[in-house]
Amino acid sequence: MYQIGDLSLVEPAIAALDPDKVIIVTDSNVWPLLGPVYTQVPSLAEAPVAVVKAGEANKNLESLAAVLEVITGSGATRRSLVVNIGGGMVTDLGGFAAAVFKRGIRFINIPTSLLGAVDASIGGKTGVDFMGFKNEVGAFANPAVTLVRTENLLTLPRAELLSGYAEMLKTGFIASEALLKRFDPERDLSRPEGLGELIGCCLAFKEEVTTEDPTEQGRRRILNFGHTAGHAFESLMLKRGNPVPHGCAVAHGMLVALLLSHMLRSMSASYAQDYAREVLMPYYGALKLECKDYPELLALMSHDKKNLRAGEISFVLLDAPGAPLWQPVEPKLIEAALDIYRDLTGQ
Ligand SMILES: NC(=O)c1ccc[n+]([C@@H]2O[C@H](COP(=O)([O-])OP(=O)(O)OC[C@H]3O[C@@H](n4cnc5c(N)ncnc54)[C@H](O)[C@@H]3O)[C@@H](O)[C@H]2O)c1
Ligand SMILES: [Zn+2]
Repeated sequence: MYQIGDLSLVEPAIAALDPDKVIIVTDSNVWPLLGPVYTQVPSLAEAPVAVVKAGEANKNLESLAAVLEVITGSGATRRSLVVNIGGGMVTDLGGFAAAVFKRGIRFINIPTSLLGAVDASIGGKTGVDFMGFKNEVGAFANPAVTLVRTENLLTLPRAELLSGYAEMLKTGFIASEALLKRFDPERDLSRPEGLGELIGCCLAFKEEVTTEDPTEQGRRRILNFGHTAGHAFESLMLKRGNPVPHGCAVAHGMLVALLLSHMLRSMSASYAQDYAREVLMPYYGALKLECKDYPELLALMSHDKKNLRAGEISFVLLDAPGAPLWQPVEPKLIEAALDIYRDLTGQ
């Protein structure tokens, strides 16, 4: 369940849950900016606050222990409530802390990044990274409610805004042509506080898909559109010491998926061409790739944990916007798509 609106949503949402205690989980970037806003809410004014160090590197067991120490130290009971205020890192970590404290207490997500608002704050996945593996330790647990306030996005760095926007575009491609047509990057990225309606459409779609398939046995896989190549790009750039935010890597991965959708399915070539010219190049720029990167990219793709069989590389492809499907793709075709990716991005 989610609501989109201003600060006035928060007090009634907490009151409806009638907790005996409220504990805030947030990070070191978000709290100085939004602490003064959220502590105006009566139920949050005196709440103990667990502030973890910002950044994915801190989505780990040490931070989990630090959060649990604050929760336990506050005298929380099974009737208490965790309120996560932050990006996906905070909602994953704080949600997991709530899921394991006394075998599970309730939590509310207040996403402050765009990726958090459209993706991480609903769907029930919580967890932390462990031994170099992303989200290796976690649990399925749903927030009691997710409260989106688009004004929170005003302080978000541009790269993080673009990252979340790519996940929104992803939703457009897999949901429907009608939703896809509602995106206007020029308008949307210059006025993120006006994104409420589009965020609502993306959340409604994710909620529908994840309610139907909560533990990713089937339909939920379509949410990985753009992610097969996207994850490989993300890992490659990290290894090169030039990390890109997750959603920005997915923005590039979507072009590869659109090209393969044309090569293997009935998707018109114009979607890939228009996306490259009107969205990817002006807003995300080109990701520098050479032919000699292909073996490493293919190896990364074949290790993706979303593949159905060992060694096989699966992609979410489209027959048309709103008509996604999941299928294995031959390495030779992926290389051909990477060639066209480089061509379309002027390399
Ligand atoms: N649970 C899920 O279904 C799901 C889905 C997608 C992603 N995720 C997870 O979400 C995380 C990525 O989320 P993210 O991109 O929000 O990362 P993040 O939480 O690390 O936030 C990105 C950066 O923006 C800062 N920030 C957040 N809100 C801000 C604001 N309003 N103003 C200024 N700075 C702000 C953060 O401090 C951080 O430095 C990853 O850990 C990923 O695994 C989870
Ligand atoms: Zn993603």
